[in-house]
Amino acid sequence: MGLSRHPYEISNSQEPSVTPLLELRQLSKHFPIRGGVFQRQVGAIKTLDRLNLAVQPGETVTLVGGHGAGKSMLARIIMQLVAPTSGQVLFDGEALAQMSRASLRQARQQLQMILQDPYAALNPKMMVSDILAEPLQIHKLADGRSQKARIAELLQLVGLNPYFAGRYPHEFSGGQRQRLNIARALATQPRLLVVDDPLVALDTAVRPQIISLLAELKQTLKLTLLLLVSDLTHVRSISDRVGVLHMGEMVELAETEQLYERPLHPYTQFVLGQSASAVYGGRDRIQPMQLTGPAPDPANPPSGCRFRTQCPYASDVCRDEHPALRDLGKPGAPHLAACHHAERFADL
Ligand SMILES: Nc1ncnc2c1ncn2[C@@H]1O[C@H](COP(=O)(O)OP(=O)(O)OP(=O)(O)O)[C@@H](O)[C@H]1O
Ligand code: SF4
Ligand SMILES: [Mg+2]
Repeated sequence: MGLSRHPYEISNSQEPSVTPLLELRQLSKHFPIRGGVFQRQVGAIKTLDRLNLAVQPGETVTLVGGHGAGKSMLARIIMQLVAPTSGQVLFDGEALAQMSRASLRQARQQLQMILQDPYAALNPKMMVSDILAEPLQIHKLADGRSQKARIAELLQLVGLNPYFAGRYPHEFSGGQRQRLNIARALATQPRLLVVDDPLVALDTAVRPQIISLLAELKQTLKLTLLLLVSDLTHVRSISDRVGVLHMGEMVELAETEQLYERPLHPYTQFVLGQSASAVYGGRDRIQPMQLTGPAPDPANPPSGCRFRTQCPYASDVCRDEHPALRDLGKPGAPHLAACHHAERFADL
């Protein structure tokens, strides 16, 4: 099914005719706020607000957002576990919500998610062999001997000894459990992995190892990745592009090096300032930013720019007008930022 392209479909692909593997079009998730005697809707929490994104085959796009930014919600919407309030998710050019049951089943095989919490994601009562056998059986991909061999192969792919097939999740460390989660997601030979905060529950020392594993798997299995993270410390080397979510909105989207070296949105500068100094490679241009106020209430966001009550650069126009996402990049290298004063950071 061919759907017309959205004007906001922005990609760094050199080949514009390639269909994005994953596309979000004006994707929103709002939760109604009710009040009064009749419990009428008096407002809405905009957890995700008109997100647009096109992820090309083979690309790794990282979206960063603070706690409660809607990352897990986005992952669940992409996986069709939660319905959006409006907007669409397209997989390989087709809207998932409009697929027939058979097509959706096929798409589900090619589209897998790694859950945020490696501890909660694995059933403690199931042996590793059963955990990995489950997707193989559901999708009728292997049984008997071939299933055993595939389980061993999956464990090796993620750097675990096939001997571990007979163990239970509690016998593994956090990093090893995350490897098991990745192995399970790989069982169906997916094309796209949606990885929800793969590092947040892990010890700091283990985090780079999981990123290296994902980078290696991306190369060997030609995967496309959508990484959802709460800070930018470890993801620079693996990401082709980075998008920044703030109060449900995409406030910046650019090629990774552009975004790390020349962040155009003050919230991105704040996020980079919060990340470990390693991300700058010794640069000291971006200092940790002092916010000018507490985080606003999502049920009652500020007028104009939603970052304005915390932004040191806020001016009158920031209070009066909601900033649109504008392209301030060079030809062929889009750099989108939703800030009235983004130009002042462009030449730093
Ligand atoms: N039923 C609901 N009613 C109102 N708000 C909700 C509901 N479900 C989720 N939310 C809100 O949606 C927001 C997004 O939550 P989500 O778990 O997706 O954030 P996150 O970016 O994954 O955060 P974290 O980094 O903590 O994992 C939260 O602020 C949460 O309060
Ligand atoms: S629009 Fe104004 S308040 Fe918002 S990030 Fe830019 S300078 Fe800050
Ligand atoms: Mg989350």
